[in-house]
Amino acid sequence: MAKQLTPRLQRALDISSEMTIPGRKMTFAFRLDYIPRYWNDNDAFKSTFMNALSCLFPEGERMFMEAVRAHQHRIHDGQLNEQIKGFIKQEAIHGNEHALYNDYLKKWGYPIDKINRFEKREKVWLKKWIPAAHRLAITCALEHFTAIMANQVLTDPRATEGMHPQFKELWRWHAIEETEHKAVAYDVYQQAVGSYWLRVLTMIQVTIMFCLRTSIYQAVFLWKDGQLFNPKTWWQGIRFYFLRPGLVRRILPEYLDYFRRDFHPWMHDNRELLQHWLTEGQNYKAL
Ligand SMILES: [Fe+2]
Ligand SMILES: [Fe+2]
Repeated sequence: MAKQLTPRLQRALDISSEMTIPGRKMTFAFRLDYIPRYWNDNDAFKSTFMNALSCLFPEGERMFMEAVRAHQHRIHDGQLNEQIKGFIKQEAIHGNEHALYNDYLKKWGYPIDKINRFEKREKVWLKKWIPAAHRLAITCALEHFTAIMANQVLTDPRATEGMHPQFKELWRWHAIEETEHKAVAYDVYQQAVGSYWLRVLTMIQVTIMFCLRTSIYQAVFLWKDGQLFNPKTWWQGIRFYFLRPGLVRRILPEYLDYFRRDFHPWMHDNRELLQHWLTEGQNYKAL
């Protein structure tokens, strides 16, 4: 447990211990024949950016589940153990749905099989050579990334307004569940490992790897489309990251909070968003 139990941290821990995390069976029958290649706002950059993120999920989320499971024997808190079950259910279903999404991307000529092979090999390598505590720290860092991006999907209408309805539904559902379980890996880490320095140094490492990998996958997709050297694509990228909606500018303060000693994911209390979107999403039925 973090040493400095500030009122802010205490409040976040109280919220975290109250969360229930349901698994939901969702099926998105993608019909990409009817979905335009630039399904996100008719924008090559934004569409390929989301496609690149999707390629990280199936193997990435499998690694998250394994990293949490590897520490489960050290968790004696009944509520957290229940949350772990919900976390595993949610991530397993995310992985499956994103694997289907990624399969469909092949229809547009993207080298998804090669990417999947690389992702698989890397996760085998990580499991073999990287200690479980470090893999859990990687999980916490990536869960923080997904949580702050999910918050954008749920709060900023510009993040989803131009999306094709099929993809909009999937990204919204994923964002809701990432928000629900954003603290599970972190709470496990604090109880089972607890090192501040491992957590923050891993975040620096993960930030570099995550940005690099997403950019490489995206560049491959744009290159396949003949759009990589199109100035319009670069302008779309600058606008997306820095101007409208300005993703980097918008997520930076929450990203930096991760480096606080008294950080906890529920310091960013966005439970009202969950309430709002779960009421909107009529099809979100718990398993
Ligand atoms: Fe997920
Ligand atoms: Fe997650």
